[in-house]
Amino acid sequence: MRDLIIIGAGGFGAEAAWVVREVNAAAERTESRLMDWNLVGFADSDERKYQSAHAGYPVHGTIEQTAGVFASRELFFFCAIGDNAVRRRVAAAAQSFGWKPATIIHPAAVIADTAVVLPGSFVGPGSVVSNNARVGEYAIVNMHVSVGHDVAVGDYCQLSPGSRVSGFCRIEDLASLGSNAVLLPATRVGECALVGACSLASGQIEAYTTVCGVPARTIRQALPVEAYAGSGGRIS
Ligand SMILES: CC(C)(COP(=O)(O)OP(=O)(O)OC[C@H]1O[C@@H](n2cnc3c(N)ncnc32)[C@H](O)[C@@H]1OP(=O)(O)O)[C@@H](O)C(=O)NCCC(=O)NCCS
Repeated sequence: MRDLIIIGAGGFGAEAAWVVREVNAAAERTESRLMDWNLVGFADSDERKYQSAHAGYPVHGTIEQTAGVFASRELFFFCAIGDNAVRRRVAAAAQSFGWKPATIIHPAAVIADTAVVLPGSFVGPGSVVSNNARVGEYAIVNMHVSVGHDVAVGDYCQLSPGSRVSGFCRIEDLASLGSNAVLLPATRVGECALVGACSLASGQIEAYTTVCGVPARTIRQALPVEAYAGSGGRIS
C-alpha cells in the first residue's frame, strides 16, 4: 500500500477521498492490492483546520508540518485545489519535499489504451478519455467529461463536470472549461483561458481570455486565472 496525502481539505478534497476509497474497493475486488492507497489524511494551509478531521481523516497542517509528521516515509500526494494556478504552486512545493504525484482515476472512468493521463491528474466517474488523447500533469477531468480522440489537454487544466471536448481540440496549460461547456472539433483554447459553463466554443480562444454563451463570445481578456476561482468557479 502506498501512503497518500490529499492537499486541500475542502469540498474537492473530500470528493477525492471518496474516489480513493472507490479505487481501493475496485482494487480489492480484482485482487490487485498493489494499486491500493493508504489515505493518511489531508494537508491544508488554513491553520484553523490544523489537527481537525476532514471527511473522516486527520488534517496534519500545512505541507511543511505534514512533511515533518511523515519525514521518514515515502509519500504520494494528490493536490485537490480547484484553482489551476494555486494548484501548480502547491504541487511544486509538495514535490520539493520529495513527495510523488498520485494520479487518481475513478474505476468508472474509461481511458483508451492509446490515451495517456500524466501524473498528478484526476479523472472522475463517468468520464471518457478517448483514442490518442493526452491529459497533462495535475489536470482535473471532473465527472462525466468526454475528452475526444486526438485531444491534447495541457498541464494544470480543469475540465468541469459534463464538459465535452471534441476530437483534435488542444487546450493549453492552466485553461478551464466550465460545467457542460462544449468545444467543437479542433478548437484551440489558449493558456489560462476559460470557457464558461454551458457555452459552445470553436476556433481559437486566445490566452487569458474568458468566453461564454452559445456561440461563445469574449467577455474578458488578460484575466489572471486566479479570478476564475473568485468568480464562483472554484471547485474545492
Ligand atoms: C464565465 C464566468 C467565469 C463569468 O463569470 P464572471 O466573470 O463573474 O461574469 P459575470 O457573472 O459578471 O457575467 C458577465 C456577463 O456574462 C454572462 N455570463 C456569465 N457566464 C455565462 C455563461 N456561462 N454563459 C452565458 N453567459 C454568461 C452574464 O450573464 C453577464 O452578462 P451581462 O453582462 O449581459 O449581464 C462564469 O459565469 C462561469 O461560467 N464560470 C464557470 C463555473 C463552473 O462551471 N464551475 C465549475 C464548477 S465544478
